[in-house]
Amino acid sequence: MYASFKSIGAYIPEQIRTNQWFVDRMDTTNEWIVKRTGIEQRRIAQEDENTSDLGTKAAKLAINRANIQTTDVDLIICATISPDFLTMPSTACLIAHKLGIKDVMALDISAACTGFIYALNIAKAFIESGMKKNVLIIGAEKLSNIVDYTDRTTCMLFGDGAGAAIISATDDKDKAIVDIQCSADGSLQDLLLTPAPHSSEASFMQMKGNETFKVAVRTLTSDVQKIMENNSYKNEDIDLFIPHQANYRIIKAVGDALKFKDEQKVLTVAKYGNTSSASIPMAINECFEDGRLKNGSTILLDAFGGGLTWGSAIVKFNG
Ligand code: UT7
Repeated sequence: MYASFKSIGAYIPEQIRTNQWFVDRMDTTNEWIVKRTGIEQRRIAQEDENTSDLGTKAAKLAINRANIQTTDVDLIICATISPDFLTMPSTACLIAHKLGIKDVMALDISAACTGFIYALNIAKAFIESGMKKNVLIIGAEKLSNIVDYTDRTTCMLFGDGAGAAIISATDDKDKAIVDIQCSADGSLQDLLLTPAPHSSEASFMQMKGNETFKVAVRTLTSDVQKIMENNSYKNEDIDLFIPHQANYRIIKAVGDALKFKDEQKVLTVAKYGNTSSASIPMAINECFEDGRLKNGSTILLDAFGGGLTWGSAIVKFNG
């Protein structure tokens, strides 16, 4: 049995927060933010809209587009660093309830911005082992809940949003996910972290931006080189290169080092900022909706985040 990427969905919160919002509140400029990050605006969820609400809306779309019923879903995995509740119940349990799905295994995973690729890998393993047939994976974030809006070096980077996908069993190898590689290095834990509520610090996200930037460029580049080599793939075998959307300069540096053409690189960071685990599925969804992603397209995913975690995937879209 093989795992196939059947459908994609996303939910983009309505409220737009432009760079001017930050300029009005702290010592920064639109020019600095655009030049250093490429970000022009990000979306912010409503106060009464939680991560599980964003995830549920994205999941509904993915389920509809996969032409399956909610009763066909037999595993739910939600990647998030901004869950509705601290340790329990998991956001995946809340999403299952909101979708009316009962009696299936549902869990959250914590792999920061690499969360969607980790979830994809877990879904693939469950399907290949024969244990599950239709896995709903979600990357959902209400990062505005954990951003420190007094820290001008990080707060302008992040936004809210969600993406979801259905990964289904198939016996057709040509329609299968080609490969996924995930890894982690806890020795670099202090680059990106959110202190626990029992610590003396507030539970807001903290980032050593400049150091993270350098490790991100290095890791994202070597990660792609490895997965392409291991599978004997060349750049021309890839239709779309969809990296985690953290910073335009990171994507540009990685894309240039890997020699991808501009039309292969997918960029959404200007509109949505960094939405952590939601950034890759939101970008896949955008390509699906604007027609760049077609049935049979081969996409290359690449992400990097707190932990540190990183991962890449070569995926044939079968939607
Ligand atoms: O998704 C997970 C991974 N996350 C990332 O990949 C994010 C990685 N990091 C970044 O994207 C970038 O490091 C930042 C955008 C956060 C910062 O850009 P940078 O080019 O690394 O700037 P820097 O931290 O070296 O700071 C340069 C200068 C400093 O001033 P001095 O010391 O040169 O006088 C900062 O104080 O920019 C100053 N600065 C600002 N100026 C205006 C920092 N934040 C701001 C700001 N507005 N908001």
